[in-house]
Amino acid sequence: MTSRLAQVSGHLSNTHGRGLLAGEVAIITGAGQGIGKSAALLFAKEGAKVVASDIDEKKLAAVVDEIKAAGGDAIGVAGDVGADEFPKTIVDATIKAYGKINHIINNAGFTFDKMLHTTPDETWDIIIKIHVRAPFRLIRQAAPYFRVKPEARENRSIVNVSSTSGLHGNVGQANYAAAKSAVLGLTKTIAKEWGPYGVRANTVAFGLIHTRLTAAKEGGATIEIDGKKVALGVPGARPQTAEPDANAYPFIPLRRGGTADEAAASVLLYALLTILLREHL
Ligand SMILES: NC(=O)c1ccc[n+]([C@@H]2O[C@H](COP(=O)([O-])OP(=O)(O)OC[C@H]3O[C@@H](n4cnc5c(N)ncnc54)[C@H](O)[C@@H]3O)[C@@H](O)[C@H]2O)c1
Repeated sequence: MTSRLAQVSGHLSNTHGRGLLAGEVAIITGAGQGIGKSAALLFAKEGAKVVASDIDEKKLAAVVDEIKAAGGDAIGVAGDVGADEFPKTIVDATIKAYGKINHIINNAGFTFDKMLHTTPDETWDIIIKIHVRAPFRLIRQAAPYFRVKPEARENRSIVNVSSTSGLHGNVGQANYAAAKSAVLGLTKTIAKEWGPYGVRANTVAFGLIHTRLTAAKEGGATIEIDGKKVALGVPGARPQTAEPDANAYPFIPLRRGGTADEAAASVLLYALLTILLREHL
């Protein structure tokens, strides 16, 4: 799949000269590391003007610098996606810098795992707020730039990142599974309401992708939200292996976890569908 994507991408990039997303503007949240960072670099490589965002200002600045050093175009808008003013701040900054929005990639997030019977209200609420309320509010803020007249229509899409936990449930993740499942309903509603405006809405539900989110909790990574520290990671998680390992991952068909770059390639695919359908399939 990845090599096929790379092949199609290379072919189209040559056709388009300046990349598959040349001149298009993409907001990507959670772009400081992991899947969001890979997506920001990939979108920029394909010619998109990237509005990268993250709660971690330092990591965000490093990603923006990396994009610019490679000849790409990006701005960074730091902030917590859950903050009330965040949607207006990032949409205003995007319009000021680039004048339009083609894609929103709602990717920012973290897990806050507990068994259902020990999950406090606040642990439930923060995960619903970050994974469901925040994407909804950002998309709503951007509505005027998606619900546009036929003459202003371009390749436009929303990609909301979900999880296999949202599709199947997962032990210790009542909050996260519920939030990531709600993302599906949100996405399908956008498709129905904004499809007539030529906007595509898709969800990518990842399984195991090796990032900080799935690294060993014993590594001690934390994120600070609303003034509180949340420990990140999965207790006892195995480190990423280069080769497939049937013993470690018996239930994953590839017998390994995915990489952030592989995950980002699937996000790119959804941002490109119109182009692929129109020109190459
Ligand atoms: N890694 C996986 O296996 C996996 C599987 C399914 C879904 N996902 C989803 O993919 C998305 C990206 O996760 P990742 O694996 O790259 O994790 P990651 O921890 O490597 O990266 C997440 C990024 O989001 C940022 N972020 C978190 N909360 C934020 C907030 N409130 N405001 C702004 N930025 C915030 C973090 O600072 C970080 O840079 C998440 O929505 C996650 O739920 C990941």
